[in-house]
Amino acid sequence: MFATLLHSMARTSARFFFILSGEHSTLPLAELKAILQAYSIDYRIVGSFYKLIEVEADHAKLELIAGRGGYVDEMGEEVLHTEDNISSIKEGVESADLEQFLSSEDTFSVRVLRFGGVSKDLSRVHLESYLGGLLAEKTGAKVDLRSPKKPFRGILAGSLFHLGLITHQRPKGSIHRRRPRKRAVFHPSTMPPKLARCLVNLSEVRDGETFLDPFCGVGGIAIEASLLGCEVVGVDALSRMVRSARRNLAHFGLKSYGLLRGDARNLPLRSADAIATDPPYGTGASTLKSTTKDILASFLPQAKVILSPGGKVVFASPLGTGAVDLAESHGFKVFDRHELYVHRSLTREILVLGEN
Ligand SMILES: C[S@@+](CC[C@H](N)C(=O)[O-])C[C@H]1O[C@@H](n2cnc3c(N)ncnc32)[C@H](O)[C@@H]1O
Repeated sequence: MFATLLHSMARTSARFFFILSGEHSTLPLAELKAILQAYSIDYRIVGSFYKLIEVEADHAKLELIAGRGGYVDEMGEEVLHTEDNISSIKEGVESADLEQFLSSEDTFSVRVLRFGGVSKDLSRVHLESYLGGLLAEKTGAKVDLRSPKKPFRGILAGSLFHLGLITHQRPKGSIHRRRPRKRAVFHPSTMPPKLARCLVNLSEVRDGETFLDPFCGVGGIAIEASLLGCEVVGVDALSRMVRSARRNLAHFGLKSYGLLRGDARNLPLRSADAIATDPPYGTGASTLKSTTKDILASFLPQAKVILSPGGKVVFASPLGTGAVDLAESHGFKVFDRHELYVHRSLTREILVLGEN
């Protein structure tokens, strides 16, 4: 399954690694691609194994997107990759150009991950201290496992070993703090933060753009779009939901004046750059005597009118709603489709739509 191109890179670009969440088989990579696409970053996927994705791209541009992905746990720049045995790793480190990553004044750590039960004869702990010794000897830098200036990541994946410098890691506790029960107002229909963030990113919205959630509920998706720097408009048919969403955004210090009571079948705004939403299914959230299918059938033509050229609509619905047919019958092209098992009686279908 591992595919890698070992040829030399173009001068302007570097090789990066992303460690994605293993929570879903297709959403994390789709989210990463959508973020790269949204920021017009030319990239090439040069390797992938389980949660590891290797990308060649422009160094400065990739910094722009650090921390945006709900399902991106870590990113960094690759220093080297070799075969997964001690002699190749030693040779790789000795011949690597380490100066650009580590100097004698730096402190550093090396932590190794193993994906998919590979390279069993290499102990992670042994490899960490072996690499620590090699890097210290070659650069004069000192090991500091508690608060290193330069945290290195080793990854055993497939038949290769990768060594990289971590440039971004999801801050500890950041997801926990945004969990539905930690917000000012809880509602069972709300979306967990990683999935909500992923839906926002699948819409390819950029910071500063107008983002719409036409069924905003207590604001699970609106919070994530707002944290990404979007101008958020959230609409819900129930005043109490709008009030709760306002409280939830305020809880995170986010602007809440874009949250309004309204009907998604008759939207109170003229344009939006991107839309991501989770309409009511009639279980956790009320469909107000309608059905998910009928609500979507009335909402999609509205979405078509207000969406900026090239804009995307992302929505979830219970599998079996007939979302693909519905989207196509309203003149949308289905760019992407994912299934997400929630529990015995609910599997969500997530669609990414755009202009035909
Ligand atoms: C699944 S909830 C949204 C949850 C939200 N994404 C979150 O993460 O907190 C769906 C919401 O749609 C609202 N709703 C139902 N019919 C509507 C309509 N016609 N127009 C706008 N909102 C509607 C419900 O009141 C409910 O709050």
